[in-house]
Amino acid sequence: MSKLENSPIRNILVHSGRESGKNGRLVNPPIEIGSTILFDTLAAFETARDRRYESGNVYYGRYGTPASFHLEQLMCELEGAHGCTIVSSGVAAITLALLGATKSGDHVLVADHVYGNTRSFCDQVLSRTGVEIEYYDPLAGEAIEGKFRDNTTVVMFEAPGSGTFEFPDIQGIAKAARRKGVITILDGTWATPIFCRPLSLGVDVVVHSGSKYIGGHSDGMIGFIACTEKTHMPIRKTVMAVGDKPGAQEVHLALRGLRTLDLRMRRVHDAGIEVATWLRNRPEVVKVLHPVFDDCPGHDYWRRDFSGAAGLFGVVFKPTTDDKLRHFVDSLQMFGIGVSWGGFESLVLPVKPLRTATSWSEKGPLVRFNIGFEDTASLIDDLERALPLL
Ligand SMILES: Cc1ncc(COP(=O)(O)O)c(C=O)c1O
Repeated sequence: MSKLENSPIRNILVHSGRESGKNGRLVNPPIEIGSTILFDTLAAFETARDRRYESGNVYYGRYGTPASFHLEQLMCELEGAHGCTIVSSGVAAITLALLGATKSGDHVLVADHVYGNTRSFCDQVLSRTGVEIEYYDPLAGEAIEGKFRDNTTVVMFEAPGSGTFEFPDIQGIAKAARRKGVITILDGTWATPIFCRPLSLGVDVVVHSGSKYIGGHSDGMIGFIACTEKTHMPIRKTVMAVGDKPGAQEVHLALRGLRTLDLRMRRVHDAGIEVATWLRNRPEVVKVLHPVFDDCPGHDYWRRDFSGAAGLFGVVFKPTTDDKLRHFVDSLQMFGIGVSWGGFESLVLPVKPLRTATSWSEKGPLVRFNIGFEDTASLIDDLERALPLL
């Protein structure tokens, strides 16, 4: 047990996940590139091999290195998890958690607003393993219980949907699932452990794309799977069986990113609210999908379960032509056009929600904004100049 257990998250971010108590230590674990690890005796090798699934036990590079174990330990403490496994991307975290928690013949419920790759994996890969996928209304809450069958084993959801920003009733879903022994897997990338700790709300597995806020600089790609005791080993063994692992540099970048995560999240919280509030008062805007506003779906759940808001939100504009929308997006100078988010730079991207269990009824275009660390007044000036083009 870490001496930082129950310490404020800022202390964990600074003091955990690195060496302590040794003279002459580096502040940051070095970048460790290694495959073969040598042992003095065959007996020592065999002990390491028998313990190869344990975080902290060095055996072979693919199973982890001291630096990657530091990173797993840090995430465990941030999430209050029994165990954490790091993988090569956020998508790998989602897909391997799902693979590790399911088997042929299972029925899996997936929120209708999930990230596009989660949906593609479920439809194109998980379904081929004999798992039946059913999409459900992301705002179903505890009533999701009505969808459980005898063979339902997993609920996969996201808080919020990273394109359409509905905030689910995390506690209600977790409660219903626990009653039936169904495992809940939540993509918590948007909030990070700074603004929400889903395991403390009853969720079994929280996955993160560390390529977003955790790394925070739009460079390293990495994923995290933080688990309860019951879910940890089956998922970790699946990751090891598949052979996924993050690169040494990515481990280093994620550890470094985490040190400043709290500062960066607080900055995007403030800047995001400032830009979202300004946009809400514009005549071109129908709705701003930011949880601080009470018309954001699931606003009350956000208030109950989150302590802040990330800098990623959506805006529904009044209906316009495709050409005008393109002209607006292309003319923004402070906002880059590209996927992903959570880095230091502001981004803009039109989003087309894909729904099968519910419908998306907005008529006008939905555009997603990632607010970065530029001067907020300059971001607003840029938007003010471009909005009349819509
Ligand atoms: C909510 C969410 N989860 C997971 C991912 C995937 O993460 P990665 O790009 O690290 O694979 C993304 C975006 O890329 C995302 O928006």
